[in-house]
Amino acid sequence: MSEAPVTEKKKVIFSAIQPSGTITLGNYLGALQNWVKLQDEYNCIFAVADLHAITVRQEPQHFRRNILEAYALLLACGIDTEKSPFFIQSHVHTHAELAWILNCYTQFGELSRMTQFKDKSQKHADNVNAGLFTYPSLMAADILLYQADLVPVGVDQKQHLELARNIAERFNGIYGNTFRVPDPYIAQVGAKIMSLQDPTRKMSKSDENVNAWVAVLDKPDIIMKKFKRAVTDSEAKICVGEGKDGINNLIGIMSAVTGKTSDEITADFEGKGYGDFKVAVAEAVIEKLRPIQERFDEYIANKDYLTEQYRKSAEFALRISQRTLDKAMKKIGYLAK
Ligand code: TRP
Repeated sequence: MSEAPVTEKKKVIFSAIQPSGTITLGNYLGALQNWVKLQDEYNCIFAVADLHAITVRQEPQHFRRNILEAYALLLACGIDTEKSPFFIQSHVHTHAELAWILNCYTQFGELSRMTQFKDKSQKHADNVNAGLFTYPSLMAADILLYQADLVPVGVDQKQHLELARNIAERFNGIYGNTFRVPDPYIAQVGAKIMSLQDPTRKMSKSDENVNAWVAVLDKPDIIMKKFKRAVTDSEAKICVGEGKDGINNLIGIMSAVTGKTSDEITADFEGKGYGDFKVAVAEAVIEKLRPIQERFDEYIANKDYLTEQYRKSAEFALRISQRTLDKAMKKIGYLAK
């Protein structure tokens, strides 16, 4: 909890997550758990990035459900709209508006160098749409609209944040100070959760092998089964070490879930076999996720509550972001309404 005097303004943090259908244990331990902790120390603003999501084709009914479920799940994880406005991106029209403007201050060459664009245009070769290409300017708009000081991002979004900084600096350079130039927020204890089947790769729900990842909403018996099948090594020694990617990952998960250090975990399981350890990790994960799953069930059954939360947050977000948009438009030379 921050003890800062009221005169010292808290820094602004912005982050968003795409409503992709499944939020994994990796997303939770690597990012969301951290967002929840940041809420006391910073002025956090969070969003479900549903505008970003249509760069790949979405089936309307699934899409609508995924947006609401992502919203409910993040609340269940501990995002508290009393502390941190948490809205749905498409409900706040300033995002699309500033994204257009920023597109005109972003170079074709810069966007062409984005590795995510190169990867995704290979993966979806039949739908390399302009939105996929200009996605980073929309992300820049998300961040710059709230004059964010810090943006917690994983490695996969670092290049996009770098571009957002460049766009902000360029705009400020032409028109004078308009946007705060955001810094990446590097978590002190960033848990990088790897695949349970190939622990040299990040845990990802796009992995075709469903045993490679655990979803936050997976039922306990499924979680147990996936951990029992987790890939390990033949050394039969529970400790962090080279060539022990599977065990390192399980220790990392155990540590992120229980708050214990890897040394403590090693000591706890001295002389124990991998089978016992996998069951213990699964049980710890199940216990960690149980209250989240219960809250999720409660929220998703209460549409009025969810609507009230996201409307209230969108009103707040619009008020803040409109100020930045107005300022930017005035500087460019647009006529006042
Ligand atoms: N592009 C991010 C992702 O796919 C989501 C996102 C959208 C985001 N807008 C953002 C993240 C702004 C941080 C800040 O993960």
